Amino acid sequence: MKTGGTRRDFLKAVGVAGGAGVLYETMGALGLAPTPAQAAVQDFAPPRAADLKVSGRGAPKVLVLGAGIAGLTTAYELGKAGYACRVLEAKGRPGGRNWTVRGGTELRDLDGQVQRASFSKGEYMNAGPARIAQSMVTLDYCRELGVALEPFVNQNADAYIHHDNAGALSGKSTRWRTAKADVYGYVSELLAKATDRGALDAELSSQDKERVLAFLRDFGAIGGKDQNFAYTGTSRRGYTVEPGAGDEAGAVLGPPPSMTDVFASLYGRRFSFEFGYDQAMMMLQPVGGMDRIAYALAEAVGSERISYRCEVKRITDLAEGVEVTYTDAGGRERVERADYCVATLQPMVLAKIPHNLGADVKAALTYPVASPVGKMGLEYTSRWWEERDRIYGGITPTDLDVAQIWYPSYGFHSKRGTLIGYYHFGANATAYGQLTPAQRVERAVAAGVKIHGEVYRSKLASTFSVAWHRTPHIEGGWVSWPSRTSGEYALLNKPAGHVYFAGDWLSYFIAWQSGAFDSARKVVTELHERVMAA
Ligand code: PHE
Repeated sequence: MKTGGTRRDFLKAVGVAGGAGVLYETMGALGLAPTPAQAAVQDFAPPRAADLKVSGRGAPKVLVLGAGIAGLTTAYELGKAGYACRVLEAKGRPGGRNWTVRGGTELRDLDGQVQRASFSKGEYMNAGPARIAQSMVTLDYCRELGVALEPFVNQNADAYIHHDNAGALSGKSTRWRTAKADVYGYVSELLAKATDRGALDAELSSQDKERVLAFLRDFGAIGGKDQNFAYTGTSRRGYTVEPGAGDEAGAVLGPPPSMTDVFASLYGRRFSFEFGYDQAMMMLQPVGGMDRIAYALAEAVGSERISYRCEVKRITDLAEGVEVTYTDAGGRERVERADYCVATLQPMVLAKIPHNLGADVKAALTYPVASPVGKMGLEYTSRWWEERDRIYGGITPTDLDVAQIWYPSYGFHSKRGTLIGYYHFGANATAYGQLTPAQRVERAVAAGVKIHGEVYRSKLASTFSVAWHRTPHIEGGWVSWPSRTSGEYALLNKPAGHVYFAGDWLSYFIAWQSGAFDSARKVVTELHERVMAA
């Protein structure tokens, strides 16, 4: 059971036959750690130098298209076994969508609009990936490559929820903790009343009912039976006067809005976010910017193996090997041959490159749908959100077209700070993408003023915005598959002759770096197995 597929298949079979209990016992006996995430990580064994040497094989040559996370990981892992990898990258930097914008960073978009960031020293925005879940293989690469991590605050009780279109609370900014206390409180009140009245007697024994009622009192901070289980608000909502020394007991923020107004506010729709498998705290980010991962990978691969500003023009599968035509940094057309090619560009970019990989591959590459995604960084001359609003990191969700505002998880109490003024997908991203950078700022700042007041405009120092769907060589924040079972996904997850495809778009972690890492590992495993079997 040397290879990932075999071990995973075996464990899957054990799980099907014997259930989860037997599966975990078996994993324990195999010396595997007990969590699925850990099992997925251990499933991969990188090719070793000895594999090629012992078998007397020369080092196969592999052309990797794209120096994003999938491409760099492919070259990095194959490099461990001595494969001769060469990475062609259209941009002048590694990382692809893993992109940290700092002072001096430039962007010319597909509409010819040019931006040059003037963020102060130490200030940055992660324009692409910005948070890493604890389960994700991304963290194992950070450990292996020595990329330092710090907490990323994905959820903050002191951030706001702001809805402009939601009943009586429209236009108000309510602290996350307050909204949550009210929603949980009223839901608990309703469920307690129903339970006590016997409305759930078909589902609950009398002992169950006792336990449900005890849970609800705790969960919603509601009154007892003598108070008809009423929710009237507690300090969970926050204070108007903070408790202090001596006689200062504080004043609880209250009373809560009516039940009708709280449900009309739609605040309750915000809380599922923090339960998501991939969005739950604790989350992490690299110290100094997400691109620390890309640069660490690029360094491990070796700069002599990565050619920047090289644009792929044609991919030709040959009877033996593969040929790639590209233009180099000087604009000269060049042709390079290799034994294999791993193409990691997004499918909508690959779809436009001529190739001889067949009509079905050609069609499949046009099948995934590109998602418009936009993000804006706003640097301020003071950290008023910390000083004035006492918000340290986290996110304010809104029903405005900015969708969400992120407070930085780095540089607490430093002089300046950089917010994410919007991060949105779909129609909002399309609308902002059609504006000039200056118009985007105007519109996003107007939205922020609704929540934070004039400070949102008056302390603004500099801005930068990315519309990923209008960014050269990328053309979308990520993709979605209308179906994963209609053949296209399976086809592109297999090699076309000597050409393999890899990227988050070929994984079940789309729009996560971990999907790119996983996809690269899968291709590395399959390619190496093929080489060893030949
Ligand atoms: N990974 C991206 C993010 O964290 C996109 C994404 C959002 C993916 C929500 C899944 C769920 O924002």
